[in-house]
Amino acid sequence: MRVAVLAALFVSLLPGALVSQVDVSPEQIEVGRKKAEYCAGCHGADGNSELTDYPILAAQTTRYSYLQLKDYKSARRKDEMMTPVAAQLEKQDMIDLAAYYAAQRPKGPRIQAGEGSVPFKPDPARVAAGRKKSAEVLCTMCHLGEFAGQNEVPRVAGQHPEYVIKQLKAFKTGARTNDAGTMSSVAKTLSDEDIVNLAHYLASL
Ligand code: HEC
Ligand code: HEC
Repeated sequence: MRVAVLAALFVSLLPGALVSQVDVSPEQIEVGRKKAEYCAGCHGADGNSELTDYPILAAQTTRYSYLQLKDYKSARRKDEMMTPVAAQLEKQDMIDLAAYYAAQRPKGPRIQAGEGSVPFKPDPARVAAGRKKSAEVLCTMCHLGEFAGQNEVPRVAGQHPEYVIKQLKAFKTGARTNDAGTMSSVAKTLSDEDIVNLAHYLASL
């Protein structure tokens, strides 16, 4: 039954998924890099944030990053730090920034330690439990194999676990609602223990 519901949700994503990603030139990426200097304090110069409250943006799909910036600006997604940032961006800025981050290499998840952070070492038992849960819920039907992401479905491989936990809980409680219902219905089936296990699994990818 759950499989049928998810399959229906997946099909409803397809029209958006068919919008192809436009080829990006090195000049455009350079335009995005300049605009991203403003974001570096939180997200890192190349989208690899050192502070784990801030998501890694490196290698994220262009379409997902663009849509999130648009959602912050229109208040479909709310955050006390990102809402004022996005308010200052025009559509072309969002496209340039998203293209810049999509072209960066991810350097792996980190975990908070004192004032800064250290590379995160996933717990093998939690990784195994998270992988099992992911297979059961068919997460990769949307997120693709190894959670590489596609179009408006984000890459979550190698994301900071603290950020993943915060987002899955936000979908579950309804604090984050910009997902057209897909992630909220998935997150409602997850226990807090599942969420921690999934965060370890995703960080291991
Ligand atoms: C003051 C710190 C701060 C600054 C500056 C900042 N961000 Fe963010 N950003 C955050 C936080 C915190 C989040 C996660 C918020 C949430 O939970 O919704 C976030 C989330 C995002 C997301 C969503 C990522 C995802 O995986 O869903 C995008 C895209 C993003 N920021 C892009 C940018 C861009 C582009 C800039 C510069 C124009 C920028 N940010 C500047 C703190 C910041
Ligand atoms: C039916 C398709 C679908 C399934 C199944 C699905 N997701 Fe998602 N997921 C999405 C979409 C679409 C988004 C982006 C929502 C938005 O725009 O806010 C998302 C967002 C997320 C995010 C937030 C990423 C970020 O950067 O903020 C996480 C984490 C996530 N999914 C994990 C999972 C996990 C773990 C599973 C399985 C337990 C799963 N997803 C199953 C479609 C899906």
